[in-house]
Amino acid sequence: MRIGTFELSGKVVLAPMAGVTDPPFRRMVQRFGVSALWTEMISARGIAEGYAFRTMELTGHTVPTIFQLYGKEPSVMGEAARAVQNRGAFAVDINMGCPVKKVVRDGAGAALMKNTRLAAKIVAAVRRAVTIPVTVKIRAGWDEANLNAPDLARVIEAEGADAVVVHSRARSKGHSGPVSLSLLAEVKAKVRIPVLGNGGVFSEADAIAMIQRSGCDGVMIGRGALGRPWVPGKVMRALSGTDTARPNQFSLRELICDHYEDELHWIDRATAVRRMRKHLVWYSKGLPTAARFRKAVLRLEEPDMVMESVREFFPADVIA
Ligand SMILES: Cc1cc2nc3c(=O)[nH]c(=O)nc-3n(C[C@H](O)[C@H](O)[C@H](O)COP(=O)(O)O)c2cc1C
Repeated sequence: MRIGTFELSGKVVLAPMAGVTDPPFRRMVQRFGVSALWTEMISARGIAEGYAFRTMELTGHTVPTIFQLYGKEPSVMGEAARAVQNRGAFAVDINMGCPVKKVVRDGAGAALMKNTRLAAKIVAAVRRAVTIPVTVKIRAGWDEANLNAPDLARVIEAEGADAVVVHSRARSKGHSGPVSLSLLAEVKAKVRIPVLGNGGVFSEADAIAMIQRSGCDGVMIGRGALGRPWVPGKVMRALSGTDTARPNQFSLRELICDHYEDELHWIDRATAVRRMRKHLVWYSKGLPTAARFRKAVLRLEEPDMVMESVREFFPADVIA
C-alpha cells in the first residue's frame, strides 16, 4: 500500500487510541511487526501554542509513525501539521471521527463530518502546510441518516489527502454494532487514494473478510491490539502470505514487564503506574486467574510489586 510516495511494508496499521497508543505501547506493537503506527490524537491548538506533548516522542520507532491532530481551525491545524513534520512525523492524520462530547461540541472530530466545507478547508490548509503525506480518519457518517463517508472521502481526496481511513460505523454507534463493509466498498469505489478499513478487526479472518468484501487497501486495528500487541503483526503476516506457519513464541510475563519498565522510563512514576493499570487488565483477559490477579495488583503503587505479581500470575511461554 502506497501512502504518498512511500510504500508501506504491509496492509496493517495500529489505530490511534487516546490514553493507549503512547510511545511504549507503539514500541510494543512494533516488536511484532506493523506497517505504520498512529499516535494518540493530539490537540492542534496545544501544538500550535508550543506545547511538546510526550506522545510525540519517536525514540526507538522504526516504522512510519503518523501523528493524529484534532481541531477545527484550518490555520491552527496547518501550523500544528508543520510542527509535527519538523518533529519527524511520517505523515499527519486529521481526526474527523472522534465522537467524544467535549471534542464534537467544539466542532472538531466527528462534527466535521456535518460540516463538509470546513472539513475541506482543514484538509487544504494541512496539505499546503506540509510536504509529508496527509491522511484523514473519518466515520461512516454522523448518524445512520447521514452516512456521507463516500462523498466526504471524495472531498478529502480533492483537497489533496493521500489516504483515507474509515471507521465504518456512524458516530452515533460509538464502538458497537456492525461495521458497514458495503459503505466501505462505496468509499473505495469513489476515490483513487488508498482506503484503510477500520472497526472490529480482531483476527486474520476479520481482516480478510473486510478486504475481500470492501476492496479496501488495508486495515487499521485498535482494540484488537489491547493486551495483545502481537495481533497487528500476526494479521499483517497472514495478509501478506508470509511467515504464517511461524507463530510468535515469547514470555508473556517478560513482555508485560518490559512494557511496564518502558512506561516508567517514558513518563513520571505515578502516571506510568496509573496508565499501566488498564494494560494489565487487558493483558489479563482470558487468564484463568484474571480476577485474582486484578484484585492483587490494581491498587499497588509500587512498580516492583506490580512486576512481582505479573511474574507470579502470567505464563513464561506463550505461542500466539
Ligand atoms: C480507548 C480508545 C481510544 C481511542 N482514541 C482515538 C483517537 O485518539 N483518535 C481516533 O481517531 N480514534 C480513536 N479511537 C477509535 C479507534 O481508533 C478505532 O477507530 C475504533 O476503536 C474502531 O476500531 P477497532 O474496532 O479496531 O477498535 C479510540 C478507541 C479506543 C477504544
